[in-house]
Order: sequence, then structure tokens, then C-alpha cells
Amino acid sequence: MFTINSIGAKVFEDTMDDFDIIKSIIDTDSKEDPFYILDVADIVEKHRNWITKMPRVFPHYAIKCNSHATVIKVLADMNTGFDCASEQEIEQVLTHGVSPERIIFANPTKLPAHIRFAKKVNVRMTTADSESELLKIKDLFPEAKIVIRIRCDAKVTQVCFGTKFGCDPNEEAVGLIRLTKSLGLTLHGFSFHVGSPCGEIAAYSRGIAACKRLIAFAKTIGCNEVQMIDIGGGFPGDTGTDIDQFAAVINEAIEDIDSSIKIISEPGQYYVSSAFTLASCLHTKKTLLREEKLIKMYYITCGVYSSFIDELLKLKSRIPVTLCVPERCETFASSVFGPTCDSLDCILKDVLLPEFEIGDWLVWKDMGAYSIAAACPFNGFLPPSVFPFVRKRQWTEITEFINSLPRSEKNTD
Ligand SMILES: Cc1ncc(COP(=O)(O)O)c(C=O)c1O
Repeated sequence: MFTINSIGAKVFEDTMDDFDIIKSIIDTDSKEDPFYILDVADIVEKHRNWITKMPRVFPHYAIKCNSHATVIKVLADMNTGFDCASEQEIEQVLTHGVSPERIIFANPTKLPAHIRFAKKVNVRMTTADSESELLKIKDLFPEAKIVIRIRCDAKVTQVCFGTKFGCDPNEEAVGLIRLTKSLGLTLHGFSFHVGSPCGEIAAYSRGIAACKRLIAFAKTIGCNEVQMIDIGGGFPGDTGTDIDQFAAVINEAIEDIDSSIKIISEPGQYYVSSAFTLASCLHTKKTLLREEKLIKMYYITCGVYSSFIDELLKLKSRIPVTLCVPERCETFASSVFGPTCDSLDCILKDVLLPEFEIGDWLVWKDMGAYSIAAACPFNGFLPPSVFPFVRKRQWTEITEFINSLPRSEKNTD
């Protein structure tokens, strides 16, 4: 049942904006600890948008991106599938009553114990990109449905997966198809991941074209159960981004594919990035004179180990705003640090920011992807807690939308 309690959400008045909600949580629940607010309606809207724009592409949410229970519950209730990479992730998704057929075990280099677990819980669909992985699967889970992952890198992307995963889409893929057949395994389909986030949309067309060619070849050698193309993730999810151009390119690329071939995807950040906003309290302030330049140094209650791994890896540089009113306009060279005793725990270095004061709350938008998922309690600083919320009117719309989705595919809990 999809209820406010089942998703652990608080209901707020329609008139309250994100800042009002954050202020109310600071007053009632969190005196100085960092926390996220999770806008449930944002996730629902992303799904509504996905099924409108790409109705033929069945999304399997990549839970590595953010495995908060509310995210999984909301998506499970909207009938999405799930992409899991480990025993722990599979277990987490199954807990929400998701049937094993809606899960793809999309790790091409799996731990043997995790394969045994997938067999035990009947999660059959799984990726492989090497001979040794196929042999391992043959040994441990011969009933698995094999999805061969090919390499197809976008020309522009921050995180390129091709350096670690995906076989060459020509000779190597053909060799793996033949091996799958000769081992008596079931070839189910092909997958690729263009990189995260994708900066060259045409990469999806290339990947889909390669999968089409490989399906045609597989059929010629008697792999008659091949029936799926998995176009992976890489779709943007920050505020103000959209997937319209992605949809146009992908819909065109799959237009002529026989309806017996199912198209799936593995979006991660798309579903969660804009739904999470982080609030963190500024507890220490210093001014440093360096090379005759004054730098304001701010220390806040969470850092690169608890929320900002992207900043540690230099993948992002998000700028906060303060809850305080009125806005301060003059800017100063500033650095923002996390709470640990590690100097690498630096979120922003030498950027222009308005002056902040001790006790200010800094608010960071678009914090849902690869943030808490990568958090650890280094130096004893715990990851921020999460406060899921909905606004009254949105709750009615959400429940109407979810109830309008086909019953037959509904979640079983
Ligand atoms: C196999 C696989 N699928 C999907 C994703 C999700 O990617 P994104 O968040 O870019 O959509 C990832 C990210 O690491 C991945 O490894």
C-alpha cells in the first residue's frame, strides 16, 4: 500500500517552499546536524516524465545512485525495475516486495557469493562482458539470463565506464555470444552504458545500432531467446535539465526494432538528483591572509566523506545559498570545508561567495545522486539524515497517478 506512513514522509502545506520546510525541520528536529529534505513529488514527476517521453523504454533504477528506502519504495510502487550490483542491493530491493523479474543484476564482474545469492532469490537477468564471467555463471547459476555488456562510450562524459567494463562490440562480443551458446547458457540480450552523465546523446544511437547487429547475429546461430536491449544510464537529473533530446534520439533509434525486443534502461541520477536538498550548519569561520589576499574559510557540519564525494573527485562544484534573509550581495574569495580533521575534506576552494556567519544554514540543491550513497562515518561524523516530504495538494496528485498505473505490474507488498 502506498501511504504517507509507508514512505515515511511528512506532509506540509502547499504554501511552504523548500526553505520554509528546512526551517521547520531545524526548529523541530535538527538543532545543528546536517540533513536532506527529499521531495517525493519530484521523483514521481520524473517517472511521469520518463514514461511520457520514452514509453517503450522500461526504466530499471540504478540503486547504487541513492538507495534510501523512500526512493526505492516510491519507485517500486510506480512499477519501475531496478538495477542492482551486489547481494546487498538485491536484498534491499526485494524487501520492498519487488519481484525478481524486475531486477537486473547489472554488475559484469560479480562476486561468486553474490551470484549464489541471486540464484537463491531467482534474480536471473545478469550482465557479463568476459569469458571468465560466463564460465563463473555457468558454474554457479546456469539458469541465469545472460546480458552481454558492450563498450559504447559517449565522446563527452565525466565518468567513462568503458575503461572498466564492456567488451568490444565487434569480434569480442561475437566470441562471447558463441561461448554463451556453446556453454548452454541463455542469451537474453545486450547492454551498454555511455558514461555518467552523458554529454554526447548520439552515443545511445551507436549503442542501440550495435545491439541490433548483435541480436541479428545471435539469432543466426540459434540464440532464439535473445529479446532485450538495455541502454544503461547517463540521463541528467539536476534542476532545470530535461531528457527531451535524449528521448528524441533514443525513440528514433528504437523505432524499427521488432516489438518482441524489450528495451530497458538503468537511470540513476535522473530519478534522484533534484529531489534531494541538503542543509548544513556553519559552525566555524576564519579569515586567512594568503599572498596578500584575504580568504574566508568556512567549516560546516558535513563534507566530502558524508555528502560531497563528487567535489572530492572534482566532478562537481556546487554553490550553496543561505537560509538567511536579506541576501548578502557582496562576494569574497572563500573556501568551504567539511567537519573532519582531513585537509582533503574541502568542498569549495577559492570561490567567490557572499559573506556567511557562524550559525548560518547553507542549502545545497541537486544533492540526490552519489551523495549519501557514498557516505561514510569517517572521523565519527555520521552521514546526514533524510526527511522525506510531500505537500498536501501534491499528495492527492501522486496517489491518483500511482493508482492510474497498470495494476497487473504492481508491486507485491
Ligand atoms: C551499470 C550501471 N548502470 C546504471 C548506472 C547509473 O548511471 P547514471 O546515474 O549515470 O544514470 C551506473 C552508474 O554507475 C552503472 O554502473
